[in-house]
Amino acid sequence: MISDRSNGLFGIYVHWPFCAAKCPYCDFNSHVRHNPIDENAFLQAYVRELGHFAALTPGKTVQSIFFGGGTPSLMDPRTVEVILDTIAKHWSIASDVEINLEANPTSVEAGRFKAYKNAGINRVSLGVQSLRAEPLAKLGRMHSVAEAKLAVGIAQSIFERSSFDLIYARPHQTLEEWRDELNEALMMAVGHLSLYQLTIEQGTRYYDLRAAGKLPMPDADLSADLYLLTQELTAAAGMRAYEISNHARSGEESRHNLLYWR
Ligand SMILES: C[S@@+](CC[C@H](N)C(=O)[O-])C[C@H]1O[C@@H](n2cnc3c(N)ncnc32)[C@H](O)[C@@H]1O
Ligand code: SF4
Repeated sequence: MISDRSNGLFGIYVHWPFCAAKCPYCDFNSHVRHNPIDENAFLQAYVRELGHFAALTPGKTVQSIFFGGGTPSLMDPRTVEVILDTIAKHWSIASDVEINLEANPTSVEAGRFKAYKNAGINRVSLGVQSLRAEPLAKLGRMHSVAEAKLAVGIAQSIFERSSFDLIYARPHQTLEEWRDELNEALMMAVGHLSLYQLTIEQGTRYYDLRAAGKLPMPDADLSADLYLLTQELTAAAGMRAYEISNHARSGEESRHNLLYWR
């Protein structure tokens, strides 16, 4: 929970720390559980935690609520609804509040988008990661390119605002391949895109592979060229960077990103 001293924005971040599988590049606080998760116990804990922070932040107005992960699109929409009702009981909510949920683009999760909207979510960000089959498989993702595209389309038809994430500067990636993939992404995007250069984090499978010389990462010059190409293509498409990895049409910037990165 962060209050941005520079502009008075106030937001609440809700973390769901579970995933169906662990991606080899990911060092987020995300865990795979093979036994069922006691979602109700978690819900009670979120409710208690919200009460605790509400007592410390009286009189605030909430401009951003963000469900991040892990994979919050594995949460029961009813859990999301109760958390949002609890937030509304403790604080006033801005009329133009952004309530975002991070989702993985599998068909199962896309099937829940309507229920999330009914629960109060008004924006989703989808972890597409790549629009090409081979890199997607190497990134250990559980969705296909077709499933990801379908999920983006479903999200765009249900929510007024949505975004998707891609990872670039991947092993073996060339400038021309990225130009082609990013141009395709820019045709699909409605107002916002997150474009992250792959970072190799200690404790991940990619870290060990790189240490063993088995992960042919782009060198610094190619990474720089990939970054510059990203800036050029996004700007030409009217989606300039407003933060290091986030691009939006004017007015479509994510309030969550503005709040936390400031
Ligand atoms: C909290 S994570 C993931 C949300 C969701 N579980 C998913 O995977 O789609 C948010 C985003 O961070 C990016 N990311 C995670 N690890 C990364 C890494 N090592 N390098 C670059 N981007 C990364 C991915 O694009 C991911 O979608
Ligand atoms: S990238 Fe997303 S799905 Fe993969 S382990 Fe990290 S949080 Fe989970």
